[in-house]
Amino acid sequence: MNIERDHYEKALEHVLAKVELAIDEFVDKFPHVSSNNVYSGEENTLWTASFFPGICYLAYELTGDNKYLIHSESYLDSFEDRVVNHKHISHDLGFLYTLSCVANYKLTGSERAHKIALLAAEMLTERYNEQGHYIQAWGEMGISYPDVKIIIDTMLNLPLLYWSGSKRNYEIALSHARTAAKYLIREDYSSYHTYLMRPETGEAMIGKTHQGYADESTWARGQAWAVYGFALSYRYTKEPEFLKVAKETARVFINNLPKDSVPYWDFSFTDDHPDIKDTSAAAIFCCGLLELCQYVEANQKDEYLAIVDRVMRSLYSNYSTKELDTSNGFLTEGVYHRNHGARECVIWGDYFYLEAIVRLLSDTKTFW
Ligand code: GLY
Repeated sequence: MNIERDHYEKALEHVLAKVELAIDEFVDKFPHVSSNNVYSGEENTLWTASFFPGICYLAYELTGDNKYLIHSESYLDSFEDRVVNHKHISHDLGFLYTLSCVANYKLTGSERAHKIALLAAEMLTERYNEQGHYIQAWGEMGISYPDVKIIIDTMLNLPLLYWSGSKRNYEIALSHARTAAKYLIREDYSSYHTYLMRPETGEAMIGKTHQGYADESTWARGQAWAVYGFALSYRYTKEPEFLKVAKETARVFINNLPKDSVPYWDFSFTDDHPDIKDTSAAAIFCCGLLELCQYVEANQKDEYLAIVDRVMRSLYSNYSTKELDTSNGFLTEGVYHRNHGARECVIWGDYFYLEAIVRLLSDTKTFW
């Protein structure tokens, strides 16, 4: 299947115009979740700090315009300070250092960026529980049940470990992915957001939600993290089980797409029983399917590309900020938590939307 390039070039034009609005504002400040579709700058304390640098690196990769590279490089001091001084550390080191430092290293070969990213990878492995073969998501190490959790989002933090070149880091990522497949993915390939673990024994206790509607429901963004995360684990390990999980979780996602192809924030909701959408889940899912396209037969690839095209066109036509002149985001109707940061631009949704456009327009490599 061939995509219509003109459409995605128009979508890219809209995104780059919005980056232009944002770039001077976010100097050592980081967009997170908007208010009335306008981001303000946060300190480098949240899990989302790397997404705007990542957007600038993608823009640089696609356009070759140095201003994006220079802007993103200006964030390196802040990321170095965060990891060297152990500030605001969680499993999210993967998101944070892949899109800030690994991206820089892949684009420029910078030794400094390489060193900072390796330090972040080491710090991520300190969250590994040997008995349970999992990376603890949140909280200090040493906390106890029921506060210790594995969460589906961690799947996107694993590429930092696979990439690092250390055998131990690779083994930790592989073991965590196996544990996540065992407990966070249900028999029908829907997903739990989190699973409570007993750290002394490594025992997996029970599935719980954190941002979804209910413990036994499927949080749309969590399902998108599963699709993309297992596809990435397959890229690095070639474990057939991970490919199967990525394809089957994608099937569940596809089966839950409503009429306009942008999912409700939790799959408990449908066109007959609607609630708000989550555009960020749609964008992450598209990147996951595009990753999977590399590993499946030609007819399945065509099917996936057709779905990506449908979702991406709906995002552009129905949910982009193209008619919101004051907005400095790309996509409206993202959700952080249902009752806190909903129906707004969210910076990770914007990042994955641009990553999907970049993947559709070029064969540039991703940073994961
Ligand atoms: N990783 C946090 C979230 O998806 O909201």
